[in-house]
Amino acid sequence: MNKAYSTSIESSRIAHSIGTALDRFIKNNQDEFPYASGELSQLLRDIALASKVVNREVNKAGLIDIMGGIGSTNLAGDQQQKLDVLANIRFTRALTKGGEVCALVSEESESFVDLNNHGQYVIAIDPLDGSSNIDVNVSIGTIFSIYRRKSAPGTPIRSEDILQKGSEQVAAGYILYGSSTMLVYTTGHGVHGFTHETSLGEYFLSHPDMQIPEDGKIYSVNEGLYNSFEPAMKQYLQFCKDSSYTARYIGSLVADFHRNLLKGGVYIYPATSRDARGKLRLIYECNALAYLVEQAGGKASDGRRRILDIDPESLHQRSPFYVGSKNMVEKAESFIQRTAIN
Ligand code: F6P
Repeated sequence: MNKAYSTSIESSRIAHSIGTALDRFIKNNQDEFPYASGELSQLLRDIALASKVVNREVNKAGLIDIMGGIGSTNLAGDQQQKLDVLANIRFTRALTKGGEVCALVSEESESFVDLNNHGQYVIAIDPLDGSSNIDVNVSIGTIFSIYRRKSAPGTPIRSEDILQKGSEQVAAGYILYGSSTMLVYTTGHGVHGFTHETSLGEYFLSHPDMQIPEDGKIYSVNEGLYNSFEPAMKQYLQFCKDSSYTARYIGSLVADFHRNLLKGGVYIYPATSRDARGKLRLIYECNALAYLVEQAGGKASDGRRRILDIDPESLHQRSPFYVGSKNMVEKAESFIQRTAIN
């Protein structure tokens, strides 16, 4: 081939590099993983594969009969949607086949699943978060946390394996099924975002070493619940308005979190008069995002305590959730804590 032609093509836009695929990135960074044995890498690959299947189903949602509810509610009290159930099946299958996972906690199941094997990892997952947005073509997500088991492999799973503090996560992440599909994860060495390239069917590194701005102007709260908020929260919301902040609330935790991670902002699901612990679930919603946000330089608390320090008492325990840019979370906390003392 003509060398000059080949060089000019190589440096032109049509032959631009497609970047680093998720598999290669995981492999290249495997040594950074705690207990680098290859099992955690495989687990992340299994999650990525299941997410591609779910992504395909989410994308076809309007075309085949997988929209709508199945007529029951899940543990979180949300109407279970067909896609919730389908996503749960897809992730459970992918995670249980490989043998790396010994127990699985899911929003969709009342108790944890003991897989009765020698797997070293426990996984907590919300297979499809933001289910009220499924039928209306609005972004939804998957959230996952990975822990190392504490009991000896091959023995029955104990509560100390399942009810671990968020600070004990060895990896966590989410998949956002949005205008593009992204997988964002951390293993405690920064936060990395990958975008799904549909024609190649692969995730490629698009957002290396993500950092959340220290400050921002976006606040994400369901203000429809205003009357059920405690006075301190109402005062904080007034502060947001007086500071000319912008309100952005999708109602899909992953999507609201992701936007604030990129742009700077705070997401709050506070205590309400109906539930002093708010709505969100500590083990499979808050912990993963708290780990990610801290890795990105942000903050997550329940208004008073660091989320990652909370000792869980039960599988589906709720927690108020304040997460996002460090200064914004601290400002919101200052309102909550001031009132507690007075
Ligand atoms: O799982 C909970 C969830 O669907 C989150 O994704 C979302 O942020 C929140 O609930 C929305 O709750 P609400 O409809 O009460 O604002």
